[in-house]
Amino acid sequence: MVSLRRRPLFTPIPSADNLLRMRRIAITNLKGGVGKTTTAVNLAAGLARRLEPQGERVLLVDLDPQVEASASSWLAAPQGSPMFLEALLERGDLYDLVSPSPVPGLDLIPGHPSLARAEIMLAGEPGSEAAFQRCIQSLPDRWRVAIFDTPPAQGWLMHSALAAASDVLVVIESGAMALGSLVGLDRVIRLVRERLNPQLELFGVLQSRADTRTRLYREVAELLAEQFGPQAMQTVIRSDVRLLEAPGHRQDIFTYAPSSRAAQDFEQLAAEVAQRLDLGR
Ligand SMILES: Nc1ncnc2c1ncn2[C@@H]1O[C@H](COP(=O)(O)OP(=O)(O)O)[C@@H](O)[C@H]1O
Ligand SMILES: [Mg+2]
Repeated sequence: MVSLRRRPLFTPIPSADNLLRMRRIAITNLKGGVGKTTTAVNLAAGLARRLEPQGERVLLVDLDPQVEASASSWLAAPQGSPMFLEALLERGDLYDLVSPSPVPGLDLIPGHPSLARAEIMLAGEPGSEAAFQRCIQSLPDRWRVAIFDTPPAQGWLMHSALAAASDVLVVIESGAMALGSLVGLDRVIRLVRERLNPQLELFGVLQSRADTRTRLYREVAELLAEQFGPQAMQTVIRSDVRLLEAPGHRQDIFTYAPSSRAAQDFEQLAAEVAQRLDLGR
């Protein structure tokens, strides 16, 4: 049974001060299985490893109701809570759901299956996609970067993540279908920017599960550079079986296989993202 804390009838609109400092990166693609969750977990872990010595922290927020394959079950499987949905309904605090992760400097807000009902429960409320943004705004100023892992399909949860984000990192599976998976996403990003969040920026397009020895890979890389210029990420995440194994051990790639090429790739990705966000070191 969920305990509901009584709230005043009119809660004050939270100040957006903490959002000035916290970069919020939504990891998206309209498709599943492209490496979004893998990127969310290991980019968050890589950034936390870099930032923790400077006394800064990273927050990973899991917006995927399919928790078995989600970022939060990848790391230490903290129990998610239906209070996430209650927080969206303004009957609870997202802050109560923050739990430490095994990675120093990284905190988690785990997803929960009940998130799948959020859209239905909030249907009819004006601007309901701003509910998650409001929850994020009400968090204390404790994290330098937040990473949002999103569900594979377009819908309320993805739009909510984009409404609350400052940046979008699009993950594509390297290969013949790579650019095809971007069709539609540019329109979604444009509409979110126009209607919900004018500050939203395309941070980057990242190739994942790449086989860098193939001609196809080089062709995709050239096309991305042509189409996205500086937003085509320099880092590429290569295919590595260690990334298939790590979630079963509930460990990020730096803990599970520190000398793997996947760990090297995510180290490089964290460095590239930190540099572009001007996070120092
Ligand atoms: N670079 C990679 N090399 C090998 N396997 C990968 C790689 N990236 C992701 N995977 C595997 O592919 C599957 C889907 O990845 P996931 O990150 O869950 O995708 P999404 O979140 O987009 O649905 C998982 O089994 C994951 O372990
Ligand atoms: Mg996923």
